[in-house]
Order: sequence, then structure tokens, then C-alpha cells
Amino acid sequence: MAIAIRQLHKHFVGEVSGLDLRKALTKDEAAEIEAGMDRYAVLVFHGQDITDDQQMAFALNFGERENPRGGNITKDKEYRLGSAGLNDVSNLGKDGRPLAPDSRVHLFNLGNCLWHSDSSFRAIPAKFSLLSARVVNPKGGNTEFADMRAAYDALDEETKVEIEDLICEHSLMYSRGSLGFLDYTAEEKEMFKPVLQRLVRTHPVHGRKSLYLSSHAGKVRGMSMPEGRLLLRDLTEHATQPEFVYVHKWTVHDLVMWDNRQTMHRVRRYDQSQPRDMRRATVAGTMPTAAQEAAE
Ligand code: OGA
Ligand code: MN
Repeated sequence: MAIAIRQLHKHFVGEVSGLDLRKALTKDEAAEIEAGMDRYAVLVFHGQDITDDQQMAFALNFGERENPRGGNITKDKEYRLGSAGLNDVSNLGKDGRPLAPDSRVHLFNLGNCLWHSDSSFRAIPAKFSLLSARVVNPKGGNTEFADMRAAYDALDEETKVEIEDLICEHSLMYSRGSLGFLDYTAEEKEMFKPVLQRLVRTHPVHGRKSLYLSSHAGKVRGMSMPEGRLLLRDLTEHATQPEFVYVHKWTVHDLVMWDNRQTMHRVRRYDQSQPRDMRRATVAGTMPTAAQEAAE
């Protein structure tokens, strides 16, 4: 069966049929999916009952696996999953039960409820993320995506000129800090040191510009902290209007992949006493968006 892609939202998001992710892709199929990602920025696959290894093998069609080091406070938590190299985005501990409400890992993971682009806190941020639903939460837990190209296009010319060359500092301590998670070990502070990202980035294939926003962004270079944060808030408010947002309601065995270079996403609050098992394969980016100098 041939691959078909049906657009689900005015600006972006394609629903893919005709592909079985348990099987290796041909070169042509991988190229078709990559082209679909460039165009739709988010692709939705239904009914994909895959193993961790199959999920990672599918992801590796699009680049290298991102090294997960530095992305979480892993020290406190034993890694729950096997050797495939997936990020555990569930609310579960190693015993398979929901984490305690006061668990530090749980509190840190709640940061995924803020709009963000994966790994914008890394000097070389992520390219694609592929999230597979293994257990769906009975209440809440929709994931929302915002098209940052359409949001950029809709800015007025004056704003486009103002932000064209701005550089932001991104850190996990900014996103978590905005929720009141403020205590870090010396090792974590070192790991979470801010990195620099352009505020406007250009897609390497089709050349469209997008707003590179993320709740990890906490400072704009050359601006005071409040002035910079207000600009980022205004832009985020603009970019996440319903017009630019697709809401994904999960069914078990859905796989959704997104391009972190052209979208933001967030998960909505859900019943944390019930399991939600989501697993992510992350494809590494290939270049920084800005030269890295010491933070201001
Ligand atoms: C992620 C993420 C949202 C979700 O995997 O990067 O933000 O729905 N997940 O769990
Ligand atoms: Mn994420």
C-alpha cells in the first residue's frame, strides 16, 4: 500500500496511512516521510503497535539519536526502559506505578505542560521527536502543537525586523523555574547552563522562517530580563492562538512525530494518579542556531 498523507489542520499536520512501522522503511519511503515532515511539520500515525527497538529504528531513518545526557535530573530515578535508547516521557517509576506527587522527577517532568521545543536547552537542539502512546491516560493528556512558521508569517513587518537577529538564552532552569522548581544540585546547575539560540530560524530545506520560542528561553541578549521576557511572552501568546494550534487526542498505539525546528508543543494536565506511558525517540539536530559564547 502506498503512503498517503491527509492534512488535518489549516496550516500543518498530516495524517499518514499506508505504512507499517514494525517494518524497515525503503529509501523511498523514508524520503517521502522526511518530505512530509518538511511540509506538514507534524505527522500522525495510527495503529502502530511497535516495540522500543522498532520505534528507534524508524527514528534513525531521519538522523542520529540524540544523546539524552543533560536533559533531566536522572540521578534520582532509575531508568525504567530497556536498551533501545528512548526517552521516558511517562508518569511512571521503575515499579511501573505513577510517581508520587512530591517526587522530584515528577515535579520536573511537569515542565512538559509548558509550550516548548525539545532540547532547545542544548547547543545543538533536536531535529525530530517521535512519541509513541503505549498507555493513554483516561483524563486529559492531550498534546498540542503550534505551527511556528505560520505564526512567524502572521507577524507585522515591524516586529519581524525587530526580532530578526535576536539571540535568546535557553535553559531547563528557566522553564522549570517559571513553575517554582528552583532547587538544583551543583552538578545540575553545570549541566543546565544556558545556551544561545536565534529567535528566528530558517528551515534548511524549504527556507521558511519560524519563531524559535520555547519556555526554556529566559533571556534575550541585549535586553534586561523583564524586557526580554515580556517580548517572549507576547510572541508566545501570538504563536499559540487557536489559529496556529492542533490538538492531538491520543489513542493507544498512535505515534506522532514533529519537527522541533518549526513547531512548539505542550502536554495538557492529566490525572497523575493514573498511568500514562509515552515513549520518545529523539533525532539529533546537526548544527547550532547561534554561535555559543559565554552567557551574559
Ligand atoms: C515530549 C513531550 C508531551 C507529552 O515528549 O517531548 O513534551 O504529550 N511530551 O507527553
Ligand atoms: Mn517535549
